[in-house]
Amino acid sequence: MSQETIEQTQTIQDDSLAAGMEVRNLSAYYGDFQAVKDITMPIERGKVTALIGPSGCGKSTFIRCLNRLHELTRGARVSGQAFLEDQDIYASNVDPVQVRRVIGMVFQKPNPFPMMSIYDNVIAGIKLNNARKSRGELDQIVEHSLRGAALWDEVKDKLDHSGASLSGGQQQRLCIARTIAVEPEVILMDEPCSALDPIATFKIEELIAELKERYTIALVTHNMQQAARVSDFTAFLLSGEERYGRLVEYGPTQQIFTNPQDEQTEAYITGKFG
Ligand SMILES: Nc1ncnc2c1ncn2[C@@H]1O[C@H](COP(=O)(O)OP(=O)(O)OP(=O)(O)O)[C@@H](O)[C@H]1O
Ligand SMILES: [Mg+2]
Repeated sequence: MSQETIEQTQTIQDDSLAAGMEVRNLSAYYGDFQAVKDITMPIERGKVTALIGPSGCGKSTFIRCLNRLHELTRGARVSGQAFLEDQDIYASNVDPVQVRRVIGMVFQKPNPFPMMSIYDNVIAGIKLNNARKSRGELDQIVEHSLRGAALWDEVKDKLDHSGASLSGGQQQRLCIARTIAVEPEVILMDEPCSALDPIATFKIEELIAELKERYTIALVTHNMQQAARVSDFTAFLLSGEERYGRLVEYGPTQQIFTNPQDEQTEAYITGKFG
Protein backbone atom coordinates (compact mmCIF):
# COMPACT_ATOMS: atom_id res chain seq x y z
CA MET A 1 0.00 0.00 0.00
CA SER A 2 1.34 3.44 -0.81
CA GLN A 3 2.74 5.65 1.93
CA GLU A 4 0.05 8.20 1.13
CA THR A 5 -2.73 5.68 1.74
CA ILE A 6 -1.23 4.65 5.04
CA GLU A 7 -1.09 8.28 6.13
CA GLN A 8 -4.69 8.72 5.07
CA THR A 9 -5.88 5.71 7.03
CA GLN A 10 -3.89 6.86 10.05
CA THR A 11 -5.58 10.26 9.90
CA ILE A 12 -8.83 8.39 10.05
CA GLN A 13 -7.55 6.53 13.09
CA ASP A 14 -6.71 9.84 14.82
CA ASP A 15 -10.37 10.51 14.37
CA SER A 16 -10.56 7.51 16.76
CA LEU A 17 -12.57 5.33 14.37
CA ALA A 18 -10.85 2.73 12.23
CA ALA A 19 -11.16 2.60 8.45
CA GLY A 20 -14.05 0.72 6.89
CA MET A 21 -14.21 -1.49 3.81
CA GLU A 22 -16.49 -1.80 0.81
CA VAL A 23 -16.48 -4.98 -1.24
CA ARG A 24 -17.68 -4.72 -4.84
CA ASN A 25 -18.50 -7.62 -7.15
CA LEU A 26 -15.91 -9.82 -5.51
CA SER A 27 -15.49 -13.36 -6.82
CA ALA A 28 -12.89 -15.93 -5.75
CA TYR A 29 -11.73 -19.06 -7.52
CA TYR A 30 -9.68 -22.18 -6.86
CA GLY A 31 -8.64 -23.07 -10.39
CA ASP A 32 -11.91 -23.39 -12.33
CA PHE A 33 -14.03 -23.68 -9.21
CA GLN A 34 -15.76 -20.47 -8.15
CA ALA A 35 -16.06 -20.47 -4.33
CA VAL A 36 -17.27 -16.87 -3.89
CA LYS A 37 -19.75 -15.34 -6.33
CA ASP A 38 -20.02 -11.66 -7.00
CA ILE A 39 -20.32 -10.37 -3.44
CA THR A 40 -21.02 -6.69 -2.83
CA MET A 41 -21.29 -5.46 0.76
CA PRO A 42 -19.70 -3.05 3.24
CA ILE A 43 -17.61 -3.90 6.29
CA GLU A 44 -18.65 -0.89 8.36
CA ARG A 45 -15.99 1.09 10.18
CA GLY A 46 -15.79 0.58 13.92
CA LYS A 47 -18.40 -2.21 13.83
CA VAL A 48 -18.45 -6.01 13.96
CA THR A 49 -19.71 -7.71 10.80
CA ALA A 50 -20.54 -11.41 11.19
CA LEU A 51 -20.28 -13.80 8.24
CA ILE A 52 -22.51 -16.82 8.68
CA GLY A 53 -23.67 -19.73 6.54
CA PRO A 54 -23.38 -23.50 6.17
CA SER A 55 -20.08 -25.33 5.87
CA GLY A 56 -18.45 -24.87 2.49
CA CYS A 57 -20.40 -21.74 1.53
CA GLY A 58 -17.20 -19.72 1.14
CA LYS A 59 -16.89 -17.79 4.41
CA SER A 60 -13.17 -18.51 4.90
CA THR A 61 -12.43 -17.94 1.24
CA PHE A 62 -14.27 -14.62 1.30
CA ILE A 63 -12.62 -13.33 4.48
CA ARG A 64 -9.20 -14.31 3.10
CA CYS A 65 -9.92 -12.11 0.08
CA LEU A 66 -10.28 -9.11 2.39
CA ASN A 67 -6.54 -8.99 3.10
CA ARG A 68 -5.23 -10.67 -0.04
CA LEU A 69 -4.43 -14.00 1.62
CA HIS A 70 -6.57 -16.00 -0.83
CA GLU A 71 -4.18 -15.41 -3.73
CA LEU A 72 -1.39 -17.19 -1.82
CA THR A 73 -3.17 -20.52 -2.38
CA ARG A 74 -1.84 -22.25 -5.49
CA GLY A 75 -4.13 -21.74 -8.47
CA ALA A 76 -6.34 -19.29 -6.58
CA ARG A 77 -7.46 -15.93 -7.93
CA VAL A 78 -9.81 -13.07 -7.18
CA SER A 79 -11.80 -10.69 -9.35
CA GLY A 80 -13.64 -7.54 -8.32
CA GLN A 81 -12.70 -4.87 -5.83
CA ALA A 82 -12.28 -4.42 -2.08
CA PHE A 83 -11.86 -0.86 -0.88
CA LEU A 84 -10.22 0.19 2.36
CA GLU A 85 -11.71 3.66 2.54
CA ASP A 86 -10.87 5.03 -0.95
CA GLN A 87 -8.12 2.58 -1.82
CA ASP A 88 -8.88 -0.62 -3.76
CA ILE A 89 -6.58 -3.19 -2.13
CA TYR A 90 -6.52 -5.06 -5.46
CA ALA A 91 -5.27 -2.05 -7.44
CA SER A 92 -2.06 -2.77 -9.34
CA ASN A 93 0.07 -0.30 -7.34
CA VAL A 94 -0.83 -1.85 -3.98
CA ASP A 95 1.64 -4.03 -2.08
CA PRO A 96 -0.19 -7.06 -0.62
CA VAL A 97 2.28 -7.25 2.28
CA GLN A 98 1.26 -3.76 3.39
CA VAL A 99 -2.40 -4.73 3.00
CA ARG A 100 -1.89 -7.61 5.43
CA ARG A 101 -0.35 -5.26 7.97
CA VAL A 102 -3.26 -2.82 7.85
CA ILE A 103 -5.84 -5.64 7.67
CA GLY A 104 -4.78 -8.28 10.20
CA MET A 105 -6.11 -11.80 10.64
CA VAL A 106 -6.79 -14.17 13.54
CA PHE A 107 -7.32 -17.82 12.63
CA GLN A 108 -9.48 -20.69 13.84
CA LYS A 109 -6.70 -22.47 15.69
CA PRO A 110 -4.51 -20.27 17.88
CA ASN A 111 -1.13 -20.28 16.15
CA PRO A 112 1.49 -18.64 18.36
CA PHE A 113 5.08 -19.39 17.38
CA PRO A 114 5.84 -22.21 19.85
CA MET A 115 9.60 -21.65 19.94
CA MET A 116 9.21 -17.96 20.78
CA SER A 117 8.54 -16.31 24.12
CA ILE A 118 5.27 -14.54 24.82
CA TYR A 119 7.13 -11.22 24.42
CA ASP A 120 8.61 -12.17 21.05
CA ASN A 121 5.28 -13.51 19.83
CA VAL A 122 3.67 -10.11 20.41
CA ILE A 123 6.35 -8.26 18.44
CA ALA A 124 6.75 -10.90 15.71
CA GLY A 125 4.78 -8.82 13.18
CA ILE A 126 6.80 -5.71 13.96
CA LYS A 127 10.04 -7.64 13.43
CA LEU A 128 8.68 -8.92 10.10
CA ASN A 129 8.01 -5.35 9.02
CA ASN A 130 11.64 -4.51 9.83
CA ALA A 131 10.54 -1.59 11.96
CA ARG A 132 13.47 -0.29 14.04
CA LYS A 133 12.43 0.14 17.65
CA SER A 134 14.32 0.55 20.89
CA ARG A 135 13.89 -1.97 23.69
CA GLY A 136 11.88 0.63 25.62
CA GLU A 137 9.52 1.19 22.67
CA LEU A 138 9.08 -2.56 22.24
CA ASP A 139 8.33 -2.97 25.97
CA GLN A 140 5.60 -0.37 25.62
CA ILE A 141 4.12 -2.01 22.53
CA VAL A 142 4.12 -5.41 24.26
CA GLU A 143 2.31 -4.07 27.33
CA HIS A 144 -0.14 -2.01 25.28
CA SER A 145 -0.95 -4.93 22.96
CA LEU A 146 -1.32 -7.47 25.76
CA ARG A 147 -3.57 -5.07 27.67
CA GLY A 148 -5.56 -4.51 24.47
CA ALA A 149 -5.99 -8.28 24.15
CA ALA A 150 -7.05 -8.61 27.83
CA LEU A 151 -4.06 -10.86 28.56
CA TRP A 152 -1.58 -8.57 30.36
CA ASP A 153 -2.52 -9.45 33.93
CA GLU A 154 -2.24 -13.16 33.25
CA VAL A 155 1.19 -13.06 31.61
CA LYS A 156 3.03 -9.94 32.82
CA ASP A 157 5.27 -11.97 35.17
CA LYS A 158 6.22 -14.57 32.58
CA LEU A 159 6.81 -12.74 29.33
CA ASP A 160 9.87 -14.90 28.68
CA HIS A 161 7.86 -18.15 28.81
CA SER A 162 7.03 -19.93 25.58
CA GLY A 163 3.83 -18.91 23.77
CA ALA A 164 2.95 -22.61 23.72
CA SER A 165 2.85 -22.72 27.56
CA LEU A 166 -0.46 -20.83 27.57
CA SER A 167 -3.98 -22.28 27.54
CA GLY A 168 -5.89 -22.33 24.24
CA GLY A 169 -7.88 -19.23 25.13
CA GLN A 170 -4.75 -17.39 26.27
CA GLN A 171 -2.98 -18.42 23.07
CA GLN A 172 -5.84 -16.97 21.01
CA ARG A 173 -5.62 -13.70 22.97
CA LEU A 174 -1.84 -13.75 22.38
CA CYS A 175 -2.53 -14.01 18.64
CA ILE A 176 -4.91 -11.07 18.95
CA ALA A 177 -2.15 -9.12 20.77
CA ARG A 178 0.26 -9.99 17.95
CA THR A 179 -2.29 -8.71 15.43
CA ILE A 180 -2.96 -5.41 17.22
CA ALA A 181 0.76 -4.78 17.88
CA VAL A 182 1.18 -3.65 14.26
CA GLU A 183 -1.74 -1.21 14.64
CA PRO A 184 -4.07 -2.47 11.95
CA GLU A 185 -7.28 -0.75 10.87
CA VAL A 186 -9.26 -3.94 10.31
CA ILE A 187 -9.12 -7.30 12.10
CA LEU A 188 -10.44 -10.38 10.31
CA MET A 189 -11.34 -13.35 12.51
CA ASP A 190 -12.14 -16.80 11.09
CA GLU A 191 -13.99 -18.78 13.77
CA PRO A 192 -11.63 -17.54 16.50
CA CYS A 193 -13.47 -19.44 19.25
CA SER A 194 -14.11 -22.77 17.59
CA ALA A 195 -11.20 -24.45 19.43
CA LEU A 196 -12.06 -22.85 22.79
CA ASP A 197 -14.21 -23.81 25.78
CA PRO A 198 -17.24 -21.67 26.73
CA ILE A 199 -15.37 -19.55 29.30
CA ALA A 200 -12.48 -18.77 26.95
CA THR A 201 -15.07 -18.08 24.23
CA PHE A 202 -16.88 -15.63 26.49
CA LYS A 203 -13.61 -13.77 27.14
CA ILE A 204 -12.91 -13.45 23.43
CA GLU A 205 -16.45 -12.19 22.83
CA GLU A 206 -16.00 -9.56 25.53
CA LEU A 207 -12.70 -8.62 23.95
CA ILE A 208 -14.28 -8.26 20.48
CA ALA A 209 -16.79 -5.81 21.96
CA GLU A 210 -13.87 -3.74 23.32
CA LEU A 211 -11.80 -4.00 20.14
CA LYS A 212 -14.49 -2.56 17.91
CA GLU A 213 -14.02 0.80 19.62
CA ARG A 214 -10.70 1.00 17.79
CA TYR A 215 -10.83 -1.49 14.93
CA THR A 216 -13.20 -2.58 12.22
CA ILE A 217 -13.93 -6.29 12.65
CA ALA A 218 -15.16 -9.04 10.33
CA LEU A 219 -15.96 -12.30 12.12
CA VAL A 220 -16.73 -15.70 10.62
CA THR A 221 -18.72 -17.82 13.04
CA HIS A 222 -20.72 -21.04 13.04
CA ASN A 223 -22.33 -20.03 16.28
CA MET A 224 -25.61 -18.16 15.72
CA GLN A 225 -25.77 -16.99 19.33
CA GLN A 226 -22.27 -15.57 18.98
CA ALA A 227 -23.20 -13.70 15.81
CA ALA A 228 -26.30 -12.33 17.53
CA ARG A 229 -24.36 -11.35 20.68
CA VAL A 230 -21.32 -9.65 19.21
CA SER A 231 -22.08 -8.36 15.73
CA ASP A 232 -23.71 -5.17 14.48
CA PHE A 233 -24.20 -6.40 10.92
CA THR A 234 -24.62 -9.92 9.55
CA ALA A 235 -24.00 -11.37 6.11
CA PHE A 236 -25.51 -14.76 5.25
CA LEU A 237 -23.81 -16.85 2.56
CA LEU A 238 -25.26 -20.00 1.10
CA SER A 239 -23.83 -23.25 -0.20
CA GLY A 240 -25.27 -26.00 -2.37
CA GLU A 241 -26.41 -26.22 -5.97
CA GLU A 242 -26.46 -22.92 -7.81
CA ARG A 243 -26.31 -20.68 -4.79
CA TYR A 244 -23.06 -21.60 -3.10
CA GLY A 245 -20.72 -18.74 -2.50
CA ARG A 246 -23.51 -16.19 -2.90
CA LEU A 247 -24.48 -13.50 -0.46
CA VAL A 248 -28.13 -14.22 0.27
CA GLU A 249 -28.78 -11.48 2.76
CA TYR A 250 -26.94 -8.66 4.51
CA GLY A 251 -28.29 -6.26 7.11
CA PRO A 252 -28.26 -5.11 10.72
CA THR A 253 -27.87 -8.21 12.94
CA GLN A 254 -31.04 -7.43 14.86
CA GLN A 255 -33.05 -7.43 11.64
CA ILE A 256 -31.42 -10.57 10.18
CA PHE A 257 -32.20 -12.49 13.35
CA THR A 258 -35.70 -11.19 14.03
CA ASN A 259 -37.05 -10.42 10.59
CA PRO A 260 -34.99 -12.02 7.80
CA GLN A 261 -36.16 -11.11 4.31
CA ASP A 262 -35.08 -14.38 2.69
CA GLU A 263 -36.68 -17.71 3.60
CA GLN A 264 -33.32 -19.48 3.37
CA THR A 265 -31.81 -17.11 5.93
CA GLU A 266 -34.75 -17.82 8.19
CA ALA A 267 -34.40 -21.57 7.76
CA TYR A 268 -30.71 -21.35 8.61
CA ILE A 269 -30.94 -19.15 11.68
CA THR A 270 -33.80 -21.18 13.09
CA GLY A 271 -31.67 -24.32 12.69
CA LYS A 272 -33.66 -26.00 9.93
CA PHE A 273 -30.49 -26.73 7.98
CA GLY A 274 -26.75 -26.21 8.01
N1 LIG B 1 -7.54 -24.92 -1.24
C1 LIG B 1 -8.70 -25.20 -1.86
N2 LIG B 1 -8.71 -25.77 -3.09
C2 LIG B 1 -9.89 -26.04 -3.73
N3 LIG B 1 -11.10 -25.80 -3.22
C3 LIG B 1 -11.16 -25.25 -2.00
C4 LIG B 1 -9.96 -24.94 -1.24
N4 LIG B 1 -10.34 -24.39 -0.04
C5 LIG B 1 -11.69 -24.41 -0.06
N5 LIG B 1 -12.19 -24.90 -1.21
C6 LIG B 1 -13.62 -25.04 -1.59
O1 LIG B 1 -14.21 -23.75 -1.63
C7 LIG B 1 -15.52 -23.80 -1.06
C8 LIG B 1 -15.58 -22.80 0.08
O2 LIG B 1 -14.73 -23.22 1.12
P1 LIG B 1 -14.51 -22.37 2.43
O3 LIG B 1 -13.42 -23.00 3.20
O4 LIG B 1 -14.36 -20.94 2.07
O5 LIG B 1 -15.93 -22.58 3.16
P2 LIG B 1 -16.39 -22.17 4.64
O6 LIG B 1 -17.69 -21.48 4.49
O7 LIG B 1 -15.31 -21.45 5.33
O8 LIG B 1 -16.64 -23.60 5.31
P3 LIG B 1 -16.47 -24.03 6.86
O9 LIG B 1 -17.66 -23.46 7.55
O10 LIG B 1 -16.53 -25.53 6.79
O11 LIG B 1 -15.17 -23.50 7.37
C9 LIG B 1 -15.77 -25.24 -0.63
O12 LIG B 1 -16.51 -25.87 -1.64
C10 LIG B 1 -14.38 -25.82 -0.54
O13 LIG B 1 -14.39 -27.19 -0.82
MG1 LIG C 1 -14.15 -21.85 7.07
